[in-house]
Amino acid sequence: MKIQKVGVVGCGLMGGGIAQTCAQSGYETVVREVNQQLLDKGMTRIHDAWDMMARKGKLTQDQVEQNRARLHGTLALEDFADCDLVIEAVIENMEEKLRLFPALDKTLKPEALILSNTSSLSITQMGAVTKRAEQICGLHFFNPAPVMKLVEIVRTISTSEQTIETVKEFALSLGKTPVIAKDTAGFIVNFLLIPYLLAAIRMLENGMASREDIDTAMKLGCGYPMGPLTLLDYVGLDTTLWAAEAIYEEYKDPLYAPPPLLRRMVASGMYGRKSGRGFYQY
Ligand code: 3HC
Repeated sequence: MKIQKVGVVGCGLMGGGIAQTCAQSGYETVVREVNQQLLDKGMTRIHDAWDMMARKGKLTQDQVEQNRARLHGTLALEDFADCDLVIEAVIENMEEKLRLFPALDKTLKPEALILSNTSSLSITQMGAVTKRAEQICGLHFFNPAPVMKLVEIVRTISTSEQTIETVKEFALSLGKTPVIAKDTAGFIVNFLLIPYLLAAIRMLENGMASREDIDTAMKLGCGYPMGPLTLLDYVGLDTTLWAAEAIYEEYKDPLYAPPPLLRRMVASGMYGRKSGRGFYQY
C-alpha cells in the first residue's frame, strides 16, 4: 500500500511534532485539534520550527513554503476520509482513545491504517473497538519528534504482517529507525526510562542531592544530553505520570510507582516546560 496522505489527531507537543515530521518528509498532512485556539497554537509552533530551520540553513524558503502548503489544520475528523494512514496523538486517556477509534474507523476508507502514538496504553484495546484490528498498531515517537531518530512500532496480537511492513517503510521514509515491540505497557524505551526518571525524583524528594547536581551528574557522568529532571520537564510531568501509572497498573512493580512529589507537582499544574514550571522555571 502506498502512503500518500497522512492524518494526525492532536496538535499538541507530540501530535504537532509528528505532523511537522510527516509534512517535511513530503506527505500531504492533515492535523486535527478539538478547538481553533489549540489548533492555532500547534500550527504556530510548527511554522516557527520551520522558520528556525530556515534561519539555520537547513531549509530553503521554498522548502518552508512547500511544507506549509502540505500541512492542513482542521477541526473536523471527516477531513481524514481520504487519508491512507492516521496517527493518533491525543491525551493519554483510554476513555478518550476508545471514543476516538470507532469514530476514525467509521470515517476512514476501509484500507486505511490507524496508528497510535501512545507511550504505554494498550493498543490491542484500541484496535478491539474497530472493525479493522489487523490494520492497527503503535507508532511511538520521541520528543522532540522531528529530531529524535527512533520510533517504536508496536505490534498487537491482531496486527497483520502487511501492516507492520507498511509502517516500517513509512517510518524509514520519515528518516526514522524503527524497532518492533510487543503491545506491553511501556514498550522498550519507557519500560527502561521511567524507573530512571522516577528514581531521580525520589532522590530529590529525599534530599539526597540538589536538582542541578542530579542533572549535572547524569549529563557529565554518563554523557546523556539532558539530566533526568530537565528531561522530565521536557517530556512533561503529566505525560510521565500517565506512563508510570499505566506500567505500574500492568506489572504492579514498585519501580514504576509514581513518587508523591510527582503526583503533587502534576496536581499543582507544574507540568514542566509546557506550563512554564516544573523542576525548573521557564
Ligand atoms: N524541529 C526541527 N528541528 C528541531 C526541533 C524541531 N521541533 N527542535 C529542535 N530541533 C533541532 C535544533 O534546531 C538543533 O539543530 P542543530 O543541532 O542542527 O542546530 C537540534 O535539534 C538540537 O537542538 P538544540 O540545539 O536546541 O538543543 P540541544 O543540542 O540541547 O538538543 C535535544 C536538544 C535534541 C532535545 C537534546 O537535548 C536531547 O536529545 N535530549 C534528550 C531528549 C530525549 O531523551 N527524548 C526522549 C524523551 S522520552 C519520550 O519522548 C517518550 C515519551 O513517551 C515519554
